[in-house]
Order: sequence, then structure tokens, then C-alpha cells
Amino acid sequence: MNLVILAAGQGKRMHSDLPKVLHPLAGRPLLAHVLDTARAAAAQLELRAEIVVVVGHGGERVAETFAGQAGVRFITQQPQLGTGHALLQAAPELDDSQPTLVLYGDVPLIRVQTLLDLVRAAGDGVAVLSARVPDPAGYGRVVRDRSGAVARIVEERDATDAERTIGEINTGILVAPTVRLKAWLAQLRNDNAQREYYLTDVVALAVRDGVPVAACTAPEAFEALGVNSKAQLAKMERIVQQRKAEHLMQTGATLADPARIDVRGEVTVGADVFIDVGCVFEGKVDLADGVRIGPYCVLRDVRVGAGTEVLAFSLLDTCRIGAMARVGPFARLRPGASLEDEVHIGNFVEVKASRVGRASKANHLAYIGDAEVGSGTNIAAGTIVANYDGANKHRSRIGADVQVGSNVVLIAPIEVGDGATIGAGSTVSGSVPAGKLTLARTRQVTVDNWKRPVKK
Ligand code: UD1
Ligand code: CA
Repeated sequence: MNLVILAAGQGKRMHSDLPKVLHPLAGRPLLAHVLDTARAAAAQLELRAEIVVVVGHGGERVAETFAGQAGVRFITQQPQLGTGHALLQAAPELDDSQPTLVLYGDVPLIRVQTLLDLVRAAGDGVAVLSARVPDPAGYGRVVRDRSGAVARIVEERDATDAERTIGEINTGILVAPTVRLKAWLAQLRNDNAQREYYLTDVVALAVRDGVPVAACTAPEAFEALGVNSKAQLAKMERIVQQRKAEHLMQTGATLADPARIDVRGEVTVGADVFIDVGCVFEGKVDLADGVRIGPYCVLRDVRVGAGTEVLAFSLLDTCRIGAMARVGPFARLRPGASLEDEVHIGNFVEVKASRVGRASKANHLAYIGDAEVGSGTNIAAGTIVANYDGANKHRSRIGADVQVGSNVVLIAPIEVGDGATIGAGSTVSGSVPAGKLTLARTRQVTVDNWKRPVKK
């Protein structure tokens, strides 16, 4: 099998500088979805060569985005004269002894099984994947003759009024015998409304040459959907999100509202996980048994241990949280934050590149950066680790069972011994001995005979 993905078009209807196939769907470029499907299909179809991706408009940007990915080769189509012209650019790459499967970079929801069935249906002939969608406007239509056999595909802009009433649309995806395909591509003409060389005209040429053409209908209408506009992209995003929400619920999550969650990556859940409305998940997120995520949280590449609760409006990025912890509301965990079991991080507390030991707490208005904090330590409101001297960042160690009072500035690098207490309002640096009270602030004085000035 040869496998080609057409991704050179400009996507005029997107009105965007970003090449269409790089627009994100569920957090990843459209083309990444198509490539995933292509790879999965290739694994089953004994694909010998690389997957060929035809790029053109913004081609360098597209190729850069997928640079270093194994099994993919980029071919340039310049200028972009239509889908048939695009495939023609890839022709020299195609092995004549194998049939060719063509995918479209802007049709990302196609399922692997549907492709495998299409290949089987093609046999030695041609097979096109058609679909019945609720709104066929904008798609090419499959025209059949009186006996019901496929005759040709007509683009909407070239269709007669009668042809526009046809409900069976062309997904663009097709399988064809390669030698014949190359000959048909060379015969395409651009005498149509868009002055383009249409790949879809290959169907009529196959019929003319007596090569059997099958049209297989995609089992699910959503598979056929293409993205030509931002409105279509947004609709597709909802479809993908609905499917992801259903999958989460099947694997054990309770969602306050399956229509109000966005998964732009991969979320795995244990039993009895609850996710409230408005949460966004990016990258790889793992929520263990009994985790509760409050409303309007953003979690990116996070592992959360069993029984932990994340309260409303928290932003957790590239970090780990142990079991039975409590984070938020309004907490910010930045990359490298690692909270052990039973840690409490409260409102307006930021933690960066720091390990916080078991059952330690910072419940309000604090900053912990580049620090190791032992277990059972309490950091009070308004306290910060001053980790940056304006040029360099320094690491600090705060021991176990430490009580850091309110409004303390810990100037890094600093070592605070186990069991130390630091009085409120202190600015400390260097080292704070274990087990003692350390104060670093001016003493309180009261002036007995002082009188307020009076207005002259
Ligand atoms: C195409 C089909 C149409 C089908 C629809 C399904 C043709 C002529 N029409 O129409 O029958 O219903 O897809 O979504 O094929 N491309 C190139 N080079 C080009 C032009 C396009 O690589 O010169 C790529 C695009 O990047 C895109 C794909 O081919 O990924 C389809 O092109 P597009 O212009 O979106 O075709 P449609 O008008 O949607
Ligand atoms: Ca399209």
C-alpha cells in the first residue's frame, strides 16, 4: 500500500495566516490527527514505504511542525493547482505494485477500521469513501447512474441544482490501483468552476476505462467531516470533546456536565473521580481514585494522587500531587512543583520547582520557589522565598516541622533547620538554626510622652 495525505491547500476559507492543517483540534494540529490514523492504518496494511504528505501553502511551517517524525516524507506542491495536481506531485514516490490510499489533511476524524474496509472494498479497482451528512453543502456529491453504480463526483460549485440535492457526499478519501491512477492524474483537466485539477475527476476516468468503482459509506457521519472554515472547526471540536467526555465517563469519571469539559490531550482516571464544569486538561493528566477537581481548573501534564481535592480556579502545570492533598482555590502550581501526600496549598499560593513534604501547608498568599520543604511544615500568609537576586536563582532548604510566620521573606539560598520557628515579619537569610525561634525585625517601641502635632 502507498499512503498519501494531501495537505498543501491554503485554506482560504479559514482567513488565517496559519496553514489550515496546523489549526488545532483538541489541542493538536489537524494533520497530527490524520497522521495518527494513517500510521495506525499503515501498521495493518503492510505499508512498506513512508507516508507521503503533500505540503505547499506554508509548507515549511507544516514540515517543521512534524520534523523528526519517523515514517513520514514531505513533498512540495508549488503552486497549488488542486487536489489532483497535489497527488500528481507525489506520483514519483508511489510504488506501482501497490494500490494507493489518499487521505485529506483536513478530514481528521476518519476511523482506521473505515479505511481498512475501504481498502478491502476496492480490491483491484477504485473505492471512494462517501457519507451521508446532515448538511451536504460545500462537499462534492457522488453521482450514480440509473443502475445505482457510481458515475462520477461533482463539486458543489460545478453541480446542477438537481445534483446539489444528492445527499451522498464525497469525503475525498479514495483507494486506486497506482499505475492507472498515475495515468488518470496525467489526464485531468481544469475546465471547472475553480480552474483546478480535481482528484475527484479520477472517478469518471475510471468508469470510462471500465475499472470498477465502489463507493463505501462511512458508518458514522462525523468521520466524513472536513474543515474548511472556523465554524466547521468549532463544530468538529465539540464533536471530539463530546466523544472524549463519553470516554472519560465510560472509564469511571463523573462529569458535572459532559458538555463543559475540554480535553486537549490524554486524561486517565481512576474510580470515583469527579470533575466539575469548565475544566481544561492538556497534555497527559492522570487522576487517581477519588480525585475531585473543582470548577474552572486548568491541568497540564499533571499526576494527582488518590483522594486529592483540587478546588476551583486552580492552574496546575507540569507537576505532581500526592494522595489526600488539597490544592486551591486559586492555587498555581508551576513546572517542577511536587507535593507529597496530604499537602495543603491554598488560595493565591504559587509553587515552582519545589518539593513540599508530607502534610506541609501553605494555605494563603505565599510563594515557594526553588525550595525543598520538609514534612509537617507550615508556611503562613504573605511569606515568600526570594529565590531570585536579579541575576541568578538560588535553591533553599526548609526543614521538617518548621513554623514560618506571616510576611516572612526567606532570602535564598537559605537553610532552615528542622523544628525552627521564624517570627512574623522577619527577613532572614543564610541559615536559621533548628529548634529555635528566629526573629529578624525591629523591636516594637512605645513612646510614652509623645504628643500628636496640632494644626497651627
Ligand atoms: C474536497 C473534494 C470534495 C470533498 C471534500 C471533502 C476535490 C476536488 N474535492 O473539496 O469532493 O467533498 O474535499 O472534505 O478534491 N489540497 C492540496 N493541494 C491543492 C488543493 C488542496 O494539497 O492544490 C489539499 C488541502 O490541503 C486539503 C485537501 O487537499 O487538505 C482538500 O482540499 P480542499 O480545497 O479543502 O477541498 P474541498 O473544497 O474541501
Ligand atoms: Ca476541505
